[in-house]
This record gives sequence, structure tokens and C-alpha cells, in this order.
Amino acid sequence: MRGQTASNQRVQVTARKLAEPDPRRCPRHMKLNFTSPCDQKAGVLASLLKRSYANLVESDPEHWGPEMPKWEEFDREVLANPETIGNCVFLSWSGNQLVGLGSYDPRQRPAIGIVGHNCVLPEFRGQGLGRQQIQEVLRRFRAIRIRKAKVTTNAHPFFRPAQRMYISCGFRETGRRPWEGDPSQDMIEYDMELDNNTPEPIGTNAPQPQR
Ligand SMILES: CC(C)(COP(=O)(O)OP(=O)(O)OC[C@H]1O[C@@H](n2cnc3c(N)ncnc32)[C@H](O)[C@@H]1OP(=O)(O)O)[C@@H](O)C(=O)NCCC(=O)NCCS
Repeated sequence: MRGQTASNQRVQVTARKLAEPDPRRCPRHMKLNFTSPCDQKAGVLASLLKRSYANLVESDPEHWGPEMPKWEEFDREVLANPETIGNCVFLSWSGNQLVGLGSYDPRQRPAIGIVGHNCVLPEFRGQGLGRQQIQEVLRRFRAIRIRKAKVTTNAHPFFRPAQRMYISCGFRETGRRPWEGDPSQDMIEYDMELDNNTPEPIGTNAPQPQR
């Protein structure tokens, strides 16, 4: 700009940068929206999982590389079965930004519901979004009167946030067993009794209880 000093211009550029919201920061306590994955293109779920586990796969490709085809298979199965598996998976959105996914297996209802794949993209972590996803799974379990939620994660340090997240959501550790992908790594099992006295409304994606 004519007549403006270089330092003035720098101040203006810095001020503009500060004013622009960082797209990776979701406002604290931003409520996520959950939608069905079945109206998305094939590959969205596998891509979320690959991006979420990229550091782990890179650090130990021998043991974690073989998980990648399973994520692609999961993606295919969800899209091929929108009324069953597809109904038990959700995409998580902060505004119009896709940030992660959650899933669960209610087939042992009403005794048990199992928390399945869940992840938040690395750039959106540490803002309470993973916790919201687990709470959404638990809300759906309560809506169909599931009495106990179970989840399993790995003891590898990569999964410390997940371990912390489950404890913080109310799960308690019940046992450990060797992981079949590498028996030197343990799987940690958790469960949680659900209070069904205050049922919440069944969401659009929640599976209907069998009559
Ligand atoms: C696990 C995961 C979903 C957590 O997502 P997130 O949005 O970062 O989690 P939140 O911000 O809701 O935090 C949940 C808890 O984990 C803790 N946490 C988050 N990041 C952490 C970190 N890097 N180290 C230690 N604890 C951490 C938080 O403090 C919080 O606990 P608190 O409520 O006691 O404070 C995310 O790290 C992820 O996608 N990891 C890879 C995939 C994965 O492990 N999925 C679970 C498979 S079993």
C-alpha cells in the first residue's frame, strides 16, 4: 500500500492472522453433530482410520500395518449394510468439518454393548471431541436399554489418550490379555454398568430394540 511503512504492513498482516480462526480449533465445548456414514463416498471411514493411526503404523509397520486392510473392509461392510452395521457407525462433525467417527456393536443387547472403532483426526485432538463420541455411543446404548458397555484398547503408549478417555467416561479396567497381533502387547479390557433409569430419546441413527 502506497505511503505505508513496512512495519505498519507487518502489523496489519499479523492482526489479520490473529483474527482468522484456526480451522483445527473447535470452540471448547463445541457440540459435535453425528451423521450416518452411508450417504458418504466409499473410503471416508478407512481414510479417517488411516489418518488417525498413521503415526502408530509408521512406528511399527510390522504389527500395525496388517490392520489397514481391516479398516478398508470395515468401510466396505458399513456401506454394504446400511441397515445393520451402517446404523451403528457415525461420522462426527464440528460445523462442516469432519473430525472423527464412532461405532459400536449392540448385537448382545440388552446385556452388553461393545464400543467399536472410534477416532479423532490428530489435528482436532485434545478438545474433548473423543469424549463426546464415547458419550454418544453410551447415549445410544442407554436408548436401547443396554445394561453394560464394554471396550478394549491396547496398552501401547500410542493408546494412552484412549485409555484416559475411557476412564474419564466412567469405564473401569477389568483385565488384560495378550493382543493376537503381537502377544508382547497387552489388550486392556474395560466395562461400565449403565444406568437406564433415565432413558434418552432414540437418535435417528440408533438401532431399534428388538420386540
Ligand atoms: C483416543 C482419541 C479418540 C481421543 O480423542 P480426543 O478428542 O483427543 O480426546 P479428548 O480430548 O476427548 O480427551 C479424552 C481424555 O483423554 C485425555 N487425553 C487426550 N489426549 C491425551 C494425551 N495426548 N495424553 C494423555 N491423555 C490425553 C484427555 O485429557 C481426556 O481425559 P480427561 O477427561 O481426564 O481430561 C484420539 O486420541 C484418537 O483418535 N486416537 C487414535 C485412535 C484411538 O486410539 N482410538 C481408540 C481405539 S480403542
